[in-house]
Amino acid sequence: MSYLANQPILILKEGSSRNRGKDAQRGNISAARIVSEVVKTTLGPRGMDKMMVDSLGDVTITSDGATVLDELDVQHPAAKMLVEVAKTQDDEVGDGTTTSVVLAGELLKRAELLLDQGVHPTVINAGYKKAGEKAKEILNEISKPVDLKDTETLKKVAMTAMHGKSLGGATEHFAKIAVEAVNRVVEKRGDSFVADIDNIQLVKKEGKSLLDTELVNGVIIDKEVVHPGMPKRMEKARIALLDTALEIEKTEFSAEIKISNPQQMQSFLDEETKLMKDMVDKIAEAGASVVLCQKGIDEIAQSFMAKQGILAARRIKKSDIEKLSRATGGRIITNLEDMKASDLGGAGLVEERKIGDDKMIFVEDAKDPKSVSILIRAGLERMVDEAERSLKDALSVVIDVVKKNKIVAGGGAVETELAKRIRDYGAAHETKGLWSGINVYTGEITDMMKEGVLEPVKVKEHAISSAVEVASMILRIDDIIAAAKPPPMPKGQGPPPE
Ligand SMILES: Nc1ncnc2c1ncn2[C@@H]1O[C@H](COP(=O)(O)OP(=O)(O)O)[C@@H](O)[C@H]1O
Ligand SMILES: [Mg+2]
Repeated sequence: MSYLANQPILILKEGSSRNRGKDAQRGNISAARIVSEVVKTTLGPRGMDKMMVDSLGDVTITSDGATVLDELDVQHPAAKMLVEVAKTQDDEVGDGTTTSVVLAGELLKRAELLLDQGVHPTVINAGYKKAGEKAKEILNEISKPVDLKDTETLKKVAMTAMHGKSLGGATEHFAKIAVEAVNRVVEKRGDSFVADIDNIQLVKKEGKSLLDTELVNGVIIDKEVVHPGMPKRMEKARIALLDTALEIEKTEFSAEIKISNPQQMQSFLDEETKLMKDMVDKIAEAGASVVLCQKGIDEIAQSFMAKQGILAARRIKKSDIEKLSRATGGRIITNLEDMKASDLGGAGLVEERKIGDDKMIFVEDAKDPKSVSILIRAGLERMVDEAERSLKDALSVVIDVVKKNKIVAGGGAVETELAKRIRDYGAAHETKGLWSGINVYTGEITDMMKEGVLEPVKVKEHAISSAVEVASMILRIDDIIAAAKPPPMPKGQGPPPE
């Protein structure tokens, strides 16, 4: 509320709240720091897991910072900003989420002390900006280049990202798979290399053990062959990818056709059968030996296809059909009328296999060798989920190194060196050399480069940038203007449950 000539002027809607100056600033800092404190204990191989129970009672157990923050239903706007930082870190570099949040939390903690001493936020921000730039400069200076053919080093980078992620003895197996998978999808663009994690399909299936996780040279579809009379294996497959149903919509019929006697019924059924046969003939004439359909396949069509020796599956996810299109070079057919032989995709082998209690279809040795999948196995569903998160981290860091082939040593080594160079601090580190960090298992200070605790420069760079950015953004705020919350809906009138 402002006063002009003693008249109160309302510029905000009634019920809006306003929180200014120091109160706003301190409130924001505390909220953001609470978020950082929550994830702090998950940091590193000795990090603890968090168990989160959502409002429906579903439980997630993880030590993955991004996942913890994702599951928390954070309300405070400044706390939300920190959650955002973790998200972007995850999207951009795929690792270092906890690091970025903890770093931001620490920057805010220091800022609080400076604010107490009367330092203006813009001064603090300028300092943080300078320090951030300097840190990134030193980071690049001390980093080591990696030869992308050096798979041993890449494996170590992958293993560092998975340390403490409850994979136990399977860590190395996962690292090997991650490096191999990235190797398959990597592309040269100009002078640099790129690899897209989306080209690596992750398929989870409960059962067996983590060590049974395997790299598959192609696409895996979580569907089975639709008819028992169809072949379960097709070599040198010519694949029709359909985004059209092989059935006649029943509703259309009943609206148009009136059946008054058995003869009519028979001719109507004959007509339906003929339509189905025509559809299948069309597909067979184009030369397809495999039909992968996004929509339904009618029983009559199924048996016609079985007779023709075609392997078919139905109700395949749209995203899988798109993946198959990229992998097999096949065009997605939306109208059978204009289907041509050149629309078909190709794969060395299409086969239904029994995985656990289910059957899945493997499309292997596809036209595009860049299509790979990883079939993740573990005894419990929760383990499979955590294994997937670990594998994503591993794939991301290997891709980070492919994109920018520079690494540093972890275990706090790089952070300590940066701190030391930025302000002359860290006596133990100084005497023990550049890459001395903490061996979290023995508690001793050792050479992390020698220990093979290796991390992409990209992850650290990004963590520093985003931590500085969000801390500055939070410090700049001196006014929180919040709209009034809508009154709670009376029972039974709320929005329908999702
Ligand atoms: N074997 C190890 N010894 C010491 N530190 C390690 C080891 N493996 C990983 N780290 C450190 O753990 C930190 C990453 O922990 P993590 O829980 O994955 O958090 P983030 O979400 O930031 O990636 C990094 O600082 C990394 O250097
Ligand atoms: Mg990590």
